[in-house]
Amino acid sequence: MTTSSAPGKIILFGEHAVVYGRPALAVPVTQVHADVEVLDSASTGILIHALGINLHTELNTLPSDHPIASVIHNLFFLSRISSFPNLEINITSTIPVASGLGSGAAVTVALTRALSAHINFPMTDDEINSFTYEIEKLHHGTPSGIDNTVVTYAKPVYFVKQPPSPAGGGARGEGEINTFKVGKPFTIVIGDTGISAPTKESVGDVRKLWEANKPKWESVFNKVAEISITARRAIETGKWELLGELMNENQALLQEMTVSSPELDQLVSAARNAGALGAKLSGGGRGGNMIALVKPDEAEAVARSLVEAGAKNTIITQVS
Ligand code: PMV
Repeated sequence: MTTSSAPGKIILFGEHAVVYGRPALAVPVTQVHADVEVLDSASTGILIHALGINLHTELNTLPSDHPIASVIHNLFFLSRISSFPNLEINITSTIPVASGLGSGAAVTVALTRALSAHINFPMTDDEINSFTYEIEKLHHGTPSGIDNTVVTYAKPVYFVKQPPSPAGGGARGEGEINTFKVGKPFTIVIGDTGISAPTKESVGDVRKLWEANKPKWESVFNKVAEISITARRAIETGKWELLGELMNENQALLQEMTVSSPELDQLVSAARNAGALGAKLSGGGRGGNMIALVKPDEAEAVARSLVEAGAKNTIITQVS
């Protein structure tokens, strides 16, 4: 049996602007994870069990563009395996789906790692990252690559989207990933609106705004870039008051981009009123999760206030 696990993630700063080449900061969230087991099987075929989505089926019954099937088919193609082995694949995940915590990327990374190891086709982290980016592109349109990067390396990432290569593609993961040091650990409370919001739509709407008035939105994205750069230094030097203010500034710009929502705004206000140093949405927006920077001893109180304000779930995580 071969097993693998990949964490969830949150974007701390720079979502959306990252699609336009501005830097963003993201960190893994190890409290939630996707886990995959691959076993040799006595029966013919590849039997897939994905409990969370109630999927119990043989690979051949899935459409080839199904997220799980596309990982397996593409990996077998890449490995040039001569005949399909008989396998049982068990996939479980505690990462909420379509909520900005990177569940799709985590399932792809864990499945690719476990399956490639099981069929004796070892892949480096850079290869896993590039492969996961290609899979993300199949399902999410024009992802920046931040999700697959932070989930693959499971480290804080200062991410700048690579321009497409002249040969096309714009593969991820060539060379060093740009990680950053966390000066002193800090505590984040994550609040889930419980509303699933496709990132593709909010990304598409921001694109329409940008196309209608490029000078305006380039200047907004530049402000986000400054926030991400300053935030990186604040994290490296442990300046939490400043980091909180930067979160609030980033949230105001995300509201201007129209990607916040009444539910997200309500949770953000509740966190600030309960003593958070700063709060903002995280990820594609419109629903999904928000994050709040808190003093460690206030984390529980902020989490309680989030639930009172309508959060369906909260996670307290330490970034180190
Ligand atoms: O919703 P998530 O966590 O997948 O994050 C999307 C982040 C965006 O910047 C909005 C899009 C992207 O591909 O980077």
